[in-house]
Parts: sequence; structure tokens; C-alpha cells
Amino acid sequence: MTDMTESDTVAFPQDRTCPYHPPTAYTPLRDSRPLARVRLYDGRLVWMVTGHTLARTLLADPRLSTDPTRPEFPATTARAAEVRRRKTALLGVDDPEHRVQRRMMIPSFTLKRAAEARPRIQRIVDERIDAMIEQGAPAELVSAFALPVPSMVICALLGVPYADHEFFEGQSRRLLRGPTAADSMDARNRLEAYIDELIDRKQKQREAGDGVLDQLVHERLREGELDREDLISIAIILLVAGHETTANMISLGTYTLLQHPDRLAELRADPGLLPVAVEELMRMLSIADGMLRVAVADIEAGGETIRTGDGVVFSTSVINRDESVYPDPDALDWHRPARHHVAFGFGIHQCLGQNLARAEMEIALSTLFDRLPGLRLAVPAEEIPFKPGDTIQGMLELPVTW
Ligand code: HEM
Repeated sequence: MTDMTESDTVAFPQDRTCPYHPPTAYTPLRDSRPLARVRLYDGRLVWMVTGHTLARTLLADPRLSTDPTRPEFPATTARAAEVRRRKTALLGVDDPEHRVQRRMMIPSFTLKRAAEARPRIQRIVDERIDAMIEQGAPAELVSAFALPVPSMVICALLGVPYADHEFFEGQSRRLLRGPTAADSMDARNRLEAYIDELIDRKQKQREAGDGVLDQLVHERLREGELDREDLISIAIILLVAGHETTANMISLGTYTLLQHPDRLAELRADPGLLPVAVEELMRMLSIADGMLRVAVADIEAGGETIRTGDGVVFSTSVINRDESVYPDPDALDWHRPARHHVAFGFGIHQCLGQNLARAEMEIALSTLFDRLPGLRLAVPAEEIPFKPGDTIQGMLELPVTW
């Protein structure tokens, strides 16, 4: 491994100072694009990719692995170091294994399937807003809207009973941000046991339901194309990634729009801007702010040599503000081409659920502001708690009124 020993390196990850801007402590990293070095919680020094072009090149490079069971795979917290040692489907496997799993999943996540899901998403969004109106202002938007919408959508898509949502939302929270490694591992065990039992139930049904898991159980598992352990792992990543991420985009997206009233007014005046506004929010908020890799061969990049065994992190918030690609990068601007952001990743692991996530964000944000035109924060912005830097970024709570 490369000898990287400077003591004045920036620590990674760090908490954001403003929930929609990268931590101010990352500012010096912008000056050393496209590659810097940062220090992890355990003192280990790893590469941080900060340049947009280099990020896309390296995210597509098979010499960088996402397999967390490799001994030198970097971890951003002690908790993650232990939890990640288990094999994870899709995101945690390299080609050729990855290709086989991804091919199996692609038909369920096409643009066409996301378009077909729109009426159901709209219905779910409308029901949640009806419930908020019935309850009356104020409301806590994360629990009343931002979390249940994607959770209901992914449950319906997968064929997981939403009635169990408190169980798996609680376990995903513990898995991603449990207080200790033991707590996170316990959450993972419980989720695995839950899915295992759900698969049993689906196997006993004579006819397959119309969820993605039903199809996998009745076609792939039965045919022996997929083993049970991999199926459980796929189900967990879809369930966790399917609601945690989008929920954060809805909560933080709402907060960011409320903090940018001019942009919100512009969007209201021209709803045709919605798709580009969602891309710009994705770029600006960069909620999955730390993709991790380990080098499995030496790589010449950005004038340096990334050596075999070196850890590499991609801070999406820094990459998506590369001023050579996005002039005035800290401004929210619906008229810039934000499309090539890396907020959904890039390369073979680029987000499988991105079409669905875009449909959810468009419908959730537009309907929320349409139906509650007076929507505003119920407490001063600086009192609203947001998530710490070592997890997916978003609001912990969002008190609103209308
Ligand atoms: C706005 C919401 C979302 C964001 C910001 C997001 C972000 C990401 C990112 C950055 C990656 C790549 C990670 C890496 O390369 O290290 C990823 C992968 C993935 N996402 Fe998403 N995601 C979102 C929504 C979803 C949804 C709704 C689903 C499921 C229905 C989903 C399922 C996945 C899966 C399965 C992968 C791994 C793909 C693979 O390895 O082939 N995501 N996501």
C-alpha cells in the first residue's frame, strides 16, 4: 500500500454544516482536484476522487472493487467495518458475478416500468397528503410523508407487505446508523430472517404474486438460477436502498426548495422544469456522499499511482461541484445541464432504482407543493436536525406547517 502519512489531511466523512452543502472542511479538497487524500476514522489514509472527469473514469474501472469482504476494503466507521464484512448482492459484488445479478434485475427497473408505476406512486402520494390535511397542520414531514411514500412504493413493487413497515424501517435505520456494530449486525440478522420467512410464504403460494420478489422466487429460485442466500441479499438491498435514499431526497429536497423561494416560484410557474429540477437537486444535495472502493491492481490516475490495496472514496458532493463542469457550482440553477452528475453513481453499479427514484421525486415534490401551496417550515431552519456525515444525507425531522 502507498505510504500516505501526512498528518494534516482532511478527515472523512464529516458532518455537513448546512444540510445541502458539502462540509466546509472539504473546501481545500476542491483546490487539489482531481485527486486528494483523506483520513478515515481509524487513521487510515485513502484516496479521495474529487474531479468529475476522473470520477467517471475511475467508477467505470474494473480495477476498483466494491467487494466489502476484501480485507483492505475501506470502512468509514467502526460499525461499518464489521457489518460490511458480509457479502452483499449487487453493490458488493464485482463482475462477472455482478453482471449475472444485475441482468436478472434490469427488466423490473426499466424506464418503462417506472412510467407504469406512476399512477400508483401518485395515489400513494395523494393519500399521504390527504392524511396530513385531515390531521391538520403542523406535521413532521419525514414520518408523515417523506418516508412512507418510498416505503409503500418499494413494498408494492417487491411484494413485501407494507403492514410490516415499522419492522423493516426500524431495522434499516439500525443497519445504516445503529449505535454499535453489534446493533447493526443484529438488525441485518433480523432482516435476513424476515425475508427468509417471506420467501417461504411465497414458495407455498401456488400462483406467483406480481411483485419482483414473487417472480424471483417462482422463476429464478425454482430454476436454480439464483440461490437463496443471494435472493435474501438482493431483497435486503432493494428494500433498504429503495426507501432510505429516496426518503432523504424528498425531505432534504423539500427543505432546500423552501430555503430557495425564488427557485421554488420559478418551478411553480413552469412545471415543465420539474425533470431538470430533480436532476439539479440530485446534483446539489448529493445525498450518497461517499462511495467506497478498493484497488485490486495499480492504477495511474490524476498524476498519481493508486496502488493495489489502496482505499478510494468518491465524495459525490465534492465531485458534483466541480466548477470546470458546473460553473457557480454552489448555486441551485434549473437552467444548467446537471444531467451528468454522479449522485446515482456511475459505471456498472450505477443506481438500479434511478428511474423509479426520479418518478417518485417528481411526483412527491410537485404534488406536495401543489396541494399545500402555503407549505413552510414550522420552526427556524437552524433548529431542524439533519443526519450526520457517516450515513446517507437527509433530514432527521422536518416540522412543517401550511
Ligand atoms: C434518490 C434516491 C437514490 C439515490 C440518491 C441512490 C444512490 C445510489 C448510488 C450513489 C448508487 C451507487 C453506489 C456505488 O457505486 O457505490 C446506488 C446503487 C444502487 N441503488 Fe440507488 N439510489 C436511490 C434510489 C434507489 C432506489 C429507489 C432503489 C431500489 C428500488 C435503489 C437501488 C439501488 C441498488 C440495487 C444499487 C446497486 C446497484 C448495483 O450494484 O448494480 N436505489 N444508488
